[in-house]
Amino acid sequence: MPDSASSRRHFLQALSAASLYATAARTANAAGEASINLFPAETIGTVSPLVHGHFIEHLGGVIYDGVWVGEGSKIPNYNGARKSLVDAMRTLGPTVMRWPGGCFADSYDWRDGIGPSNTRPKRTNFWANNGRLRKVDQKHPSRSDPNTFGTIEFLRFCKLIGAEPYIAANLRALPAQTFVEWIDYCNSPGGTTLAERRAAHGAPEPFNVRYWGVGNESWGCGGNMTSEEYSVEYRKFISWVPQYSDQQMRFIPAGPNSFDFKWTRGFFSKMLEKGPGMLGRVWGWAVHYYCGGVGRGDSLNFNNDQHHSLLADADRIEDLITRHWNLMAEYDPQHRVKIVVDEWGAWHSDSTAPANHHLFGSVQTMRDALVAGISLDTFHRHADKVAMANVAQLVNCIQTLFLADEDKFCVTPSYHVFDMYKDHHNGESIRTEFNAPRVTFQGADNKAGTVVRLAGSATRKDKTVTLTFVNTSATDALPVNINAAGASISQATGVVLAGDKVQAANTFATPEAVKPKTLEVKVAGGSVQVNAPPASVVKLTLAI
Ligand code: AHR
Repeated sequence: MPDSASSRRHFLQALSAASLYATAARTANAAGEASINLFPAETIGTVSPLVHGHFIEHLGGVIYDGVWVGEGSKIPNYNGARKSLVDAMRTLGPTVMRWPGGCFADSYDWRDGIGPSNTRPKRTNFWANNGRLRKVDQKHPSRSDPNTFGTIEFLRFCKLIGAEPYIAANLRALPAQTFVEWIDYCNSPGGTTLAERRAAHGAPEPFNVRYWGVGNESWGCGGNMTSEEYSVEYRKFISWVPQYSDQQMRFIPAGPNSFDFKWTRGFFSKMLEKGPGMLGRVWGWAVHYYCGGVGRGDSLNFNNDQHHSLLADADRIEDLITRHWNLMAEYDPQHRVKIVVDEWGAWHSDSTAPANHHLFGSVQTMRDALVAGISLDTFHRHADKVAMANVAQLVNCIQTLFLADEDKFCVTPSYHVFDMYKDHHNGESIRTEFNAPRVTFQGADNKAGTVVRLAGSATRKDKTVTLTFVNTSATDALPVNINAAGASISQATGVVLAGDKVQAANTFATPEAVKPKTLEVKVAGGSVQVNAPPASVVKLTLAI
């Protein structure tokens, strides 16, 4: 991975300052006991509900089948959107939804997805020729996109589930003018031809879409550009954008693939060639991070070493955030630009999806739920840096929250993590220390590796603290003692998510194999003791 002495220096400085607690957290104490120390008076930042965000792409079975079943469908729906999915999303609380891609975004012409649905063109989907989809009929919507789910359908879906829409614009294949026109179509209150067209399409009121992505993975599927080339294109796109309300629009450029620091450096330095004011036109820097791959086993079939190895990958997301953040500080010392973890999740190389057209889909296990817990807790601990994060993807794809195929539907273990963690929304993230010996494992390259055993986050709302954490060990329960500095814990309740094994999964046949249960909690002398089962995600609600 590209790196430089300078970014390394900043990383080390950060470790000794802002991230010191994280280092302490990963150090075993002498007696090998597990403890969590909370510091309710030391706040880091407010946890935005947007860090529990989502992502849907015209890819495989995400939109057609997953989200959209159509108005005439026998499958229960709200004006075409799958009812069971909408109902489940409503319980998670309001957040953000990114659409239409992913790589698909840079091939999408929004004008195909407006007007009467029977007049909309069918287009070859970006993913049409990808491996598994070749087994699917060319006429299937995953290959020949019918465009029945377009801008208005997406924005109505967001309203139904209470999500802020976040639209990713096509920078590779369409000019900046079409970007401006898409904004006009969505946001103009009236007086423009595009607002009149929107009204004629059944939506007279403007949608006021605030979050706009400009291209996606422009280093790869989004145009194979250099970061400098991309920066020039980005500036063109955001140079003049119509503003239709007092609400400031928020632009999100295509950021790096994982630890590609060269991309971050190239973009920011090229932007600054036009002066520091340019950074005022960037709200969030979109980082993509997937874990998984060779040596991590299959989605359902993996051993304990592969389990721990995948979780070690997932835990690298903290390094990713702090290292890009410190590099960004060289160009933006006041940190006007925040981090958007635009796509994240565990991506398994096999497919255990229930249908052939569910490209990149797999049945999800308790291991994936631990990836979700590790990732969301990291975003909370870095509430000062991470403004938004979108799990990839909502349904039938990668780190999915739902499996849906025709009339069959179930929630995955990861869904339950999002549900348990929603109490963090708008809470003040507080400093924490997590102390437990690390787990050792045999890595794919036959080298011994270690992974954090106990990791989590805590937020405070007045006198209530929500504490969430994972016990990553595939085999051993972990007794944990919890204290709050300068405060006494007077009451506590607990919820735990665990399966009968790490491979435990929810399927259409066993939809409740993994679901949250009450966790026994002992409160004594101002502290709390719990026993976290192997491979579990825990939530405690503490009165201090
Ligand atoms: O989420 C699947 C794909 O992964 C997205 O389309 C792309 O942005 C990323 O490479």
